[in-house]
Amino acid sequence: MANANNNRGLWKSRMGFILAASGSAVGLGNVWKFPYIAGQNGGGAFVLIYLICTAVVGLPIMLSEFTIGRKTSLNPVGAFQSLKPGTPWIGIGYMGVLAGFLILSFYAVVGGWTLAYVVKSLSHTIDHFTNPGEAGNFFGQFIGNTGEVLFYHAVFMGITIGIVIRGVHGGIEKACDILMPALVLMLVILMIRSLTLDGAMEGVEFYLSPDFSKITPQIVLVAMGQAFFSLSLGMGAMLTYGSYLPAKENLTSATLYVVLFDTGIALLMGMVIFPAVFAMGLEPTDGPGLVFSVLPVVFRDMPMGYAVSIIFFGLLTIAALTSAISLLEVVTAYFIDQKGWPRKKAVLVMGGVIFLIGIPSGMSFGLLADWKPLGMSFFDHVDNIASNYLLPIGGMLTAIFVAWIWGTKEAHKEIERHETVFHWAAYWEFVIRYIAPVAVAIVFLAKLIR
Ligand code: TRP
Repeated sequence: MANANNNRGLWKSRMGFILAASGSAVGLGNVWKFPYIAGQNGGGAFVLIYLICTAVVGLPIMLSEFTIGRKTSLNPVGAFQSLKPGTPWIGIGYMGVLAGFLILSFYAVVGGWTLAYVVKSLSHTIDHFTNPGEAGNFFGQFIGNTGEVLFYHAVFMGITIGIVIRGVHGGIEKACDILMPALVLMLVILMIRSLTLDGAMEGVEFYLSPDFSKITPQIVLVAMGQAFFSLSLGMGAMLTYGSYLPAKENLTSATLYVVLFDTGIALLMGMVIFPAVFAMGLEPTDGPGLVFSVLPVVFRDMPMGYAVSIIFFGLLTIAALTSAISLLEVVTAYFIDQKGWPRKKAVLVMGGVIFLIGIPSGMSFGLLADWKPLGMSFFDHVDNIASNYLLPIGGMLTAIFVAWIWGTKEAHKEIERHETVFHWAAYWEFVIRYIAPVAVAIVFLAKLIR
């Protein structure tokens, strides 16, 4: 049974909400995924398309998710059901809950890697690499060590479960208060270090000057997927966070803050990684190990590198946790609202199931490295299904729902409840109707045809 407002905590403050939503958005997607994907897909050209996708698809869909969430005070399934009862639109909600399961299952594996790097920083295990090749080999060996990977995976998932059990007003809000400013400060320091390395400018050029001849349909596909993933869109995570928002808050400025925070941190991370990559003579196309191959060498050669390494991987682990929390919260909210489960049971049971589904992903670089059904590892399949299919389809359907089914008029009323002035209403209405759904559809069809 849907039970709006029963047992639902609310964010304590406006800043608390913005920080929590930013905590969901900012995570491994910005720090780990963005640099290696940008590196593999042409650098500056990719970055440009990613920014365009963020502005014309990400921004309007984020506001739509916040709006549906605050209007209904429900999880994604309950929300679509309550706005248009008895219609198939509830399917968006189910897809979202499924996407939450899948994304968290491999996300927690990578979260475990970063947690392991905190421990390895503390124990002086990763502070002696003189070049990225050595650091990369070490990383490859580590992720191939199934027992160790599963151990950290379990710890990461355990911490996520522990925080989500306490609910939004307890755990989630607090964790984000300290994290965001600390992360920005750390990245600025690292950027300065990176930019002062010999040969750094070549990296800046690769990263910032788009070579338009490099743009292909494939690059557009990946850039759009990255925009969804980085902003936590397309599966109702932002919808769920919006459902804990008191009615008086201003949704439009919260949207702008979260998008700027998230995009800013990704761009900053690029300025940390690419100058260092080129200064060290590494290829930007190195793949998922990129950050883990470059940073230990950067830390080794900088003042107080030992401490910097611990703090950096520590902050990254916290950033990953605040994202993982939002993924588990979607699944949890569904079982609480729709199935009437107590929070504790929902978190423990579903967290446990998600951990189990993640095990083959954790083994994908070790014992299961040679198991590649349809040419991809289990890890890559789960990422691909969730990030490249469920999120864009979910986002597109959400846009269509708000623009044409629920209607921009109703959405507008909700956005402007309590004297908010919606400065960019005309822009939002235009992109949510005509641009966002069409853009995703085109990109998605191109993907199917390919
Ligand atoms: N956005 C997060 C990151 O960049 C990951 C994440 C959290 C996410 N919640 C999500 C991705 C919901 C997609 C959907 O690391």
